[in-house]
Amino acid sequence: MAKLIRITGVQDLPPGQAACYEVEGRTIAVFNIDGTFYAIDEACPHSGGPLSQGSCAGTTVTCPWHGADFDLRTGAPLGPPADDGVHSYKVIIDGDDLKVEVG
Ligand code: FES
Repeated sequence: MAKLIRITGVQDLPPGQAACYEVEGRTIAVFNIDGTFYAIDEACPHSGGPLSQGSCAGTTVTCPWHGADFDLRTGAPLGPPADDGVHSYKVIIDGDDLKVEVG
């Protein structure tokens, strides 16, 4: 059953920033894109690159290691060398708390 887990305060991740968090045994990258939050797995499926350290353009993040692109909204792969996508997580704003839904 899905659980909502608080990962940080909304004010702690300003627009244009990203960070990764340990949540229920997973490492999740959270991005604030112009005030909208997105959460995906931190590890790039190609070779484990840290996606929270990637560069973002709109809702696309580019892996810092070899340049694979992913859709922040869905985790889908958008460009090589990654063939697979990453899991995306629902983000909930609950007052001052930023929470993600993990299954
Ligand atoms: S580890 Fe991400 S593209 Fe290679």
